[in-house]
Order: sequence, then structure tokens, then C-alpha cells
Amino acid sequence: MKVTVFGIGYVGLVQAAVLAEVGHDVVCIDVDQAKVDNLKQGKIPIYEPGLTPLVTSNFESGRLVFSTDAAQGVKHGELIFIAVGTPPDEDGSADLKYVLAVAETIAQHMDNHKIIINKSTVPVGTADKVKAKVSDTLASIKKEVSFDVVSNPEFLKEGAAVTDCMRPDRIILGTDSKKAEEKLRELYSPFNRNHDKVITMDIRSAELTKYAANCMLATKISFMNEIANLAELFGADIEHVRHGIGSDPRIGYQFIYPGCGYGGSCFPKDVQALIRSATKVGYTAQVLESVEAVNYKQKEKLFEYIMSHFDNDVKGKTIALWGLSFKPNTDDMREASSRVLMEKLWDAGAIVQAYDPEAMEETQRIYGDKDELRLMGTKESALNGADCLVICTEWQVFRAPDFELIKSKLAQPLIFDGRNLFEPKRMAEYGFDYYAIGRGLSVKGNQ
Ligand code: UDX
Repeated sequence: MKVTVFGIGYVGLVQAAVLAEVGHDVVCIDVDQAKVDNLKQGKIPIYEPGLTPLVTSNFESGRLVFSTDAAQGVKHGELIFIAVGTPPDEDGSADLKYVLAVAETIAQHMDNHKIIINKSTVPVGTADKVKAKVSDTLASIKKEVSFDVVSNPEFLKEGAAVTDCMRPDRIILGTDSKKAEEKLRELYSPFNRNHDKVITMDIRSAELTKYAANCMLATKISFMNEIANLAELFGADIEHVRHGIGSDPRIGYQFIYPGCGYGGSCFPKDVQALIRSATKVGYTAQVLESVEAVNYKQKEKLFEYIMSHFDNDVKGKTIALWGLSFKPNTDDMREASSRVLMEKLWDAGAIVQAYDPEAMEETQRIYGDKDELRLMGTKESALNGADCLVICTEWQVFRAPDFELIKSKLAQPLIFDGRNLFEPKRMAEYGFDYYAIGRGLSVKGNQ
């Protein structure tokens, strides 16, 4: 099928590459000429496992085309995806200017029936706005062409985006057009095997489904972090509690890991956007407001441990930091807990010596050259002469480190673990003072 994707960001690029891989003819349009040129040379703007070979092989075979020519894009696709960004505006609402600009562009160039698919995460009611924008533009240039608008939210996780796209749990189609539904079923049929994963509904329900999914997951995390804080105050161990409650299938083990807060491009933005959307219809989303507030505080947790350990004075101290990205297997630093920690440490006069397997360049891009930030080539060199080690991201390479080496390099055996990677008992045997989330100063070395 002939497909066009507007917006070669995370969602657009992965979706386009996966559709090309199963044989569709995909044209990707972006306003960013440099990005388009880079992609043509096989330079992928994001780190995502499995994406580079997928993009390059499909580009070489001609099934995946990159261009800035919007007119060509509109002409090409019978199915046109809108996958541009919806950044939060000043009050946290999703800003639709890019989505509506694409809708206008499509209307200007279309001369036969098009199915316009909203892939970006957009507030409930956006499909109606897209419809209105296309209709108004067509009317203003006196063109009569039919079209459908479908809401088809994505659920991919960074770091597993290609697999998630290839093997989706569900394919949500929000549409009032049987014809559009059939076309999309055909488009997705290579991914819709074993059992029918397509769930159809009205457009507004599909739009809300995406927010509800992300907000539910964010709620699980903040709830667990709240219980972790209580566990600490009660002298309980959150890891036992997690195990205990996860065994109830109604709760489940997934997404109940306590930690130093959730980040990324989705959860913080979507929770905030739903809170704002709720306010606009006269409703106070109390649960979501708390989810956000708990997460905000949770990102300060490691800093609080560090400050209390050093009697509120870290001036001139060197802090080794393992993990900068908001989660493993990505170089994405958006809303990462490491940023809150580093910025607080700098304000307090400390130096951060950091290592991350993928996010070093991105960190350099964000913070530039800064005396208080030393980006180190290996996890071991990040420890050199440091006063303690802090872990913000649970990359696999941090899970079984050489503790003797850590001890020999640090000024004192002291670890602050924002992802609860280690067993306190083992840490005590190694002689570490070990702080973890929901466990507090769970062990003191050699006690
Ligand atoms: C999320 C959703 O999972 C995905 O379905 C949606 O399409 C986009 O948003 P992503 O942002 O890539 O995906 O990250 P995810 O793996 O969900 O993790 C989000 C954050 O929550 C990370 O910072 C992670 O460290 C944190 N997290 C996750 C926890 O703190 N505890 C958990 O138990 C799970």
C-alpha cells in the first residue's frame, strides 16, 4: 500500500521503517532538511536497537523514501500518517500547531480520497480539529475532495520500539468510517497474526485510550514510590512488599518497580496534558495531580539521601554517576531523573563524574562544556577519586559490577542506588554503606 508519514521523529521513523519492512511503499516527509539528508546517508537521529539496519535496508530497496517535499508526500499516500510532535505549551497542554499545520498541508495538496491517521499523542477532540482544518482549507481553495480521519495511537516503548511495532499488543483504531477501518486492517495485517489485535472504537475513545494507558502506568509507578517512602519510614523493605503484592495477578509484577522517578517523552508530558484537558472541561483530575506531584518529589530522593549523608554539605565533593538516560537502551535524556540530580548537585557545589553507555553525547549537547560535569569514557573511570557512587539508570552493565574495584577507587565505600539493583546484605558483606529507594540507608558497611 502507498503510505506517507509526516514527521520523522521517534514515532514516525519507527512506524515508517516497520511498514516498509513488510512491503509497503513509504514516503517520509519532514521540514528538517538536515535530518532528511542524514537519513539518506544512513545516519539515524536516535539510538534505538534494531532501527538502523531496518532503515538502511529499506531505504536501499527504495521502499522507504525521505523527503521535504510535502506535495509529493501527499500525492503519494492513500494513507497519510501525522506523526509530528505535540510539545507541551506553557501550561502543560499539548500544543497542536504542528499537527494542524500538517492537516492544512495535506488539504492543500490532495486531489483524491485520503485517509488521514493521527499517530501523535493528541488530546481528545484533536481528530475533530484536524477534520475541521482539512475541510476549511479545502473550502478556502474551492476543492471538493473526500477524506477520513482516524485516531490510531502508538504504544511503543523506547528501547523496544521496533519489536513493539512489529509485535503490537493491540492496534487501536478510532474511526467512524468502515472503509477507513478496512484499509487500516489491510495495512496492519502483517502485524495482526495469531489473534485479532485490532480494537475498533469511536475516535474520541481511541484518543483517550492512549492517555489512559500512559497515565495508568505512571500511576502504578508513583503509587509504588509512595509505598516505598512509607516502607522506609516504617522500617519495612519495599522489595519484599513489591514481591508480595505483585504475586496477586490483579496487581501483577510489571511497572511496580520503585525508583528515582519516571521520565521520558511520554509519561510526564501525557500526565500533565490530561490534567490540563480535564481542567478545560471543568474537572480536577486529583489522582493524576498526585501522580505528578509524587514523581516530582521522587526525582529529588537521591539528592536528599546524599545531602543527609554528607550533613548537607557536598561543596567540592566529586560524585560518580552511572546512568544518564531516563531508562536503559536509549540515549533519551528527556525528563531524566539524572538531570534533576545533577542540577541539584551543581547548585550545592559538587562535581559530577558521569558515565552512560549511550547518552553521553546527548548530555554534552544539553549541558555543553561545564567544569562541574566530567563525562568519563568508562564506568570504572567515572569512579576515579569520587566520594561516592550514584546509580540513576538500570543499564544491564551496572547490574554485576566489580565491587572490590569500586571500593578501591572511591574515597569511601558508599553507594546511592536509585534503581534498587543490589541486595543490601551482599553490600554489607562488601563493606559498603548502601542507600536504596524504599530501603533508605539499608545497610552500613561491615555491620
Ligand atoms: C511509555 C509507555 O510504556 C509506552 O507504552 C508509551 O507508548 C510511551 O510511554 P517509554 O516512555 O519508552 O514508554 O518508557 P517506559 O519503559 O514505559 O518507562 C517510563 C519511565 O518509567 C522510565 O523512567 C522508567 O525508569 C520508569 N519506570 C518504569 C519505573 O520507575 N518503574 C517501573 O516499574 C517501570
